[in-house]
Amino acid sequence: MNKEKVVFYCKNCGNEHAKWHGQCKYCKEWNSLKEKKISSIKIKSQAEFGNYFKKENIPIKISEIDSENEIRLVVKDDEWNRVLGGGLVPGSVCLISGEPGIGKSTLLLQISMKFDKRVLYVSGEESQRQIKVRSERIGKGIGQTFILSETETENIFEQIKKINPDIVIIDSIQTLHSKMVDGSPGSVIQIRECSSELIKYAKNTGSAVILIGHLTKDGNIAGPKVLEHMVDVVISFEGENNHSYRILRAKKNRFGSTSEIGIYEMLSSGLREVKNPNEIFLTLNSSEMSGHAIGMSMEGIRPLTLEVQALVSTAVYGTPQRSSTGLNSKRLNMLLAVLEKRAGIQLSNKDVFLNITGGVKSEDPSLDLAIVSAILSSYHDIPLNEKICFASEIGLSGELRPVIKLDKRISEAEKLGYQLFVTSNFKKDLTEKKGIKILGLEKIGSLITNLFK
Ligand code: TYD
Ligand code: MG
Repeated sequence: MNKEKVVFYCKNCGNEHAKWHGQCKYCKEWNSLKEKKISSIKIKSQAEFGNYFKKENIPIKISEIDSENEIRLVVKDDEWNRVLGGGLVPGSVCLISGEPGIGKSTLLLQISMKFDKRVLYVSGEESQRQIKVRSERIGKGIGQTFILSETETENIFEQIKKINPDIVIIDSIQTLHSKMVDGSPGSVIQIRECSSELIKYAKNTGSAVILIGHLTKDGNIAGPKVLEHMVDVVISFEGENNHSYRILRAKKNRFGSTSEIGIYEMLSSGLREVKNPNEIFLTLNSSEMSGHAIGMSMEGIRPLTLEVQALVSTAVYGTPQRSSTGLNSKRLNMLLAVLEKRAGIQLSNKDVFLNITGGVKSEDPSLDLAIVSAILSSYHDIPLNEKICFASEIGLSGELRPVIKLDKRISEAEKLGYQLFVTSNFKKDLTEKKGIKILGLEKIGSLITNLFK
């Protein structure tokens, strides 16, 4: 029987409630619940779609499992391959999340056209014609990409059976809905059902599935957290909307490291791979201004130079302002406390603003020394020589702590033409083989005597 039922779903996070409430139980947003009538036709007896493709499953001895030639679906895009740990793995499911407008659809369409495999790009958000227009901006591809504009999982599986693709891209998982369960598209129950069908399909056929996922207001992937556990790879695509650089970052990868990043630039003709990221984030001619310092951070196996800018000024109001862009503000507060307590720098009546240029976000603690140096440079109004590069973590007692892959960072700094590398008290054998001067410091106090006196 086709019975109508009423549910209330949250406009913000998509979760469902049986009754109306003023505030959403899940995301705590006020006045966001909307009524929705749904029919409860269930076709539970029908075979589950993902299982339709199932082959006989038998246990194999671990010693007999062939892992020698693990196949990777490689595309002509080094940034993408690197973040995935060498390429997409057949039979894997990968979730890509990012804020609206950041370029997820552009990236995936671009990648899909580069595969020399059969790719089915399913869009629940755009029409085939809209996607065609976008693909014309991006340029010609080599592959055979099929575009399907569809939101119903059952119909998608019908088409999958006909086309038999090697890769299926779903843009986005929040737009899909399945007749098997109640709930509106984007609700937890629908996301869970649709993605588990797609995961079953991937595991049973060996086709790779890429899911695009939306973020909620507070930056989490919309939908059940369990989705992140179910998939093999979780990648975030981030950047600032008013900057053109975008960073692809692996958060979970069952087939590779999670410390790799890929850098792209959004152009009018799609996303361009940034192969040499070490020059793009720097301000030109910053040597005459105080408050700039260059940090050598490490993203996976790649050293990345980042410019930290600080502005220290007298606070107008009683409570000084602390603001940071691209860096964790708790870390900034900790470093300010260390400066005050361990180096006697009076910052309690100062506003401090901090920024990483280029719209980059970094969590690398080895930027601590560059942050502290930028703050000191602005505080004393002494510009730092632009040929100095910093890399060290700072501990609570003001000590400089060693960083990993120091050798690699120093080589990169030398290659980029830096003349002085400031770090923690390093092992002695490093100095002799490099054409760059290395300054190894023990305490924050010695940084001040060396550079700001
Ligand atoms: P889109 O891929 O639609 O973002 P998402 O799927 O993450 O919501 O990209 C949106 C933005 O990208 C849009 O504001 C326009 C810009 N853009 C370019 O700058 N160049 C291009 O070639 C394309 C296709 C998009
Ligand atoms: Mg999109």
